[in-house]
Amino acid sequence: MKNIGVFTSGGDSPGMNACIRAVVRTSISMGFQVFGIRDGYEGMIDDDIIAMDSKSVSNIMQLGGTILRTARSERFMTAEGRKLAYGNLKKREIDALVAIGGNGTFTGAKIFMQEFPDIRIVGTPGTIDNDLYGTDFTIGFDTAVNTAMNAIDNIKDTANAHNRLFFVEVMGRDAGFIAMRTGIATGAEAILVPETPTDMQKLIDILDKRRKHNKSSSAIVVVAEGDEVGGAIEAAAEAKKALPGYDIRVTILGHIQRGGRPTCSDRVLATRLGLEAVRALADGKKGVMLGIIHKDISYTPFEKAIKYNQRINPLILEMVDILS
Ligand code: F6P
Repeated sequence: MKNIGVFTSGGDSPGMNACIRAVVRTSISMGFQVFGIRDGYEGMIDDDIIAMDSKSVSNIMQLGGTILRTARSERFMTAEGRKLAYGNLKKREIDALVAIGGNGTFTGAKIFMQEFPDIRIVGTPGTIDNDLYGTDFTIGFDTAVNTAMNAIDNIKDTANAHNRLFFVEVMGRDAGFIAMRTGIATGAEAILVPETPTDMQKLIDILDKRRKHNKSSSAIVVVAEGDEVGGAIEAAAEAKKALPGYDIRVTILGHIQRGGRPTCSDRVLATRLGLEAVRALADGKKGVMLGIIHKDISYTPFEKAIKYNQRINPLILEMVDILS
């Protein structure tokens, strides 16, 4: 192995900086020269590649976002774009890469390695969605759920004060992990996730009964953006028709879930994975995403990490039904 490159790609997630820092400092400690590639695959194509030293990653642990910036690159989906990227890596004798990202990032990495087998890539899971197979948690998930939890706590104050029903939409693309965890942590009355069929009539019956029984209309329903009802606006519209007695509001949390200071868990996870990623490259590994399963480092081939979605534990769904 000659030189190592590191980049972040796809949606940013809190903790990516801690991972970059670990990759850079581990590479240096093992005697490798390390380069940072800006804007993910876009920077690889545009030759926006910088040499990094220990100082270039000082004081970044606590920052959200990514100092290398990120992008969802359409050009890397073309053979032409990938050829340009390969040329720019070869120019600096970079033959090993740490890709910090999610599904799209690892899909691109897999194709790139098939076309240019002299480049080895390993990945670390950087996404708030927690939708990758082969790790208990992805980098950024813990921060995102804490941000969403705090936001919903605030919403609960005003919901209680006005006796209102709130439909709160959280991110997660087509996965419901953010919704499940924040819904449990905030004691939501219901959580709608894409992994299970959403029965709007059942939800309406529960809310109706609750109001008659409690005389309270204050409630929170957490909706994953990928749920088949279509999101919080659509779920609220259906509920409004059937529950005229409820004063209903909708909040879409959106990108606030992606930013902010990473939690301790995300910083530690990112640091451990960044360090192990460089060790994995030095051991000759390629085409795998590193993760932590039950406290141990795991290596999952990219195709499996992308395709085999994490499953929501049915006991957790049962827990919501019992407790709400
Ligand atoms: O994958 C992370 C994520 O934040 C998803 O939860 C969300 O669906 C998507 O990215 C939003 O992407 P963008 O920032 O490109 O709109």
